[in-house]
Amino acid sequence: MDECRMRAVELVKNLSLADATRCDHRVVFLAEELKACGLILNAVLLEMRATALVANTKKVASHQILQYQSNMSVIEPSLQGKLVLITGCTGGIGQATARAFARHGCSIAVHHSSQKSKAKADVLVSELMSLAPGVRAAPFEADLSSYENARTLHAHVVKGLGHPDILFSNHGVTGPVIGPEGDIGKVSAEVFEEIWRTNTGTAYLLAQLCVPYMESKKWGRIIFTSSVAAGNGGILGPQYASSKSALHGLVHWLSLRYSKDGITANAIAPALIEDTAMMSNPSDAVRSKIPIGRLGKPDEIASIVLLLATNGYMTNKVIVADGGWTIGGF
Ligand SMILES: NC(=O)c1ccc[n+]([C@@H]2O[C@H](COP(=O)([O-])OP(=O)(O)OC[C@H]3O[C@@H](n4cnc5c(N)ncnc54)[C@H](OP(=O)(O)O)[C@@H]3O)[C@@H](O)[C@H]2O)c1
Repeated sequence: MDECRMRAVELVKNLSLADATRCDHRVVFLAEELKACGLILNAVLLEMRATALVANTKKVASHQILQYQSNMSVIEPSLQGKLVLITGCTGGIGQATARAFARHGCSIAVHHSSQKSKAKADVLVSELMSLAPGVRAAPFEADLSSYENARTLHAHVVKGLGHPDILFSNHGVTGPVIGPEGDIGKVSAEVFEEIWRTNTGTAYLLAQLCVPYMESKKWGRIIFTSSVAAGNGGILGPQYASSKSALHGLVHWLSLRYSKDGITANAIAPALIEDTAMMSNPSDAVRSKIPIGRLGKPDEIASIVLLLATNGYMTNKVIVADGGWTIGGF
């Protein structure tokens, strides 16, 4: 009996978490054996210890799961169900980004500039809705050289799909291409102002219209498409370069003002992206500027935009994606 008791004490003491978690035949068998030896108390202790061990493991595990989930929601919040307004959505970068967001379950307000691109917008809308369950998409036309059109665009999107959680302000026009050696006299102040209004002014207005809802939700993303031209002058003209660099000041102000409200503001500054109307046929001289030895792909810009949408700690940044053309950081 003593030997049996000593064995029972050892069993209770040494019951491992693995044994308890398995809660298998071995624990049941040991408890039965103890009872058979008249060691009822030890049998009960054994069962209690098994239950306590398992319960504690479950508690620790569920705590760890909760902690993991909350960490992940900070690092990579689910974009499922978010509404993204993408301006210039019919262009190369816009389309690639719309597909990337839709694959993550986002709904997309597909902006295009005119009737000429309506068919393209309609085809994209059908494709986006097939990419993931629950994705909604609709086309919205607006020539964004006008503030009034920008207001109407925002109102139509809100009415048709709801308030955007993410604004990807990506539309852009070049104006006259005079190149880095061009004559400044060829770009009138009126043209300069028109390009600025289209690339910067309406981008600002859309951000202004989207912010109140984002602020109310304590979550929002504002992402502008700038250009490497904002940092190095580029290959198009002064109107284009300065309209893009103006977006950087906007990124800085928005970030400082609204990051505490869960709204991040960033810009992506690409260079020489193929499959876009803007860079349809670059010369060899232009291509030779790219150390990587090729033009960028719209998907390579889309992946950065997705990063800026998912990451809640990255704000106030201009991410340069230019195949190594510049040394970056401006
Ligand atoms: N491609 C490059 O190498 C490159 C380099 C640096 C920066 N970017 C910037 O990337 C952004 C996206 O351009 P992308 O490369 O995808 O070129 P893209 O294929 O030429 O697309 C341009 C987009 O802007 C829209 N757009 C043109 N005029 C507009 C207007 N008046 N109002 C509103 N929207 C207008 C176009 O709409 P429609 O299709 O309806 O005309 C189209 O969706 C632009 O901001 C551009 O400045 C491009």
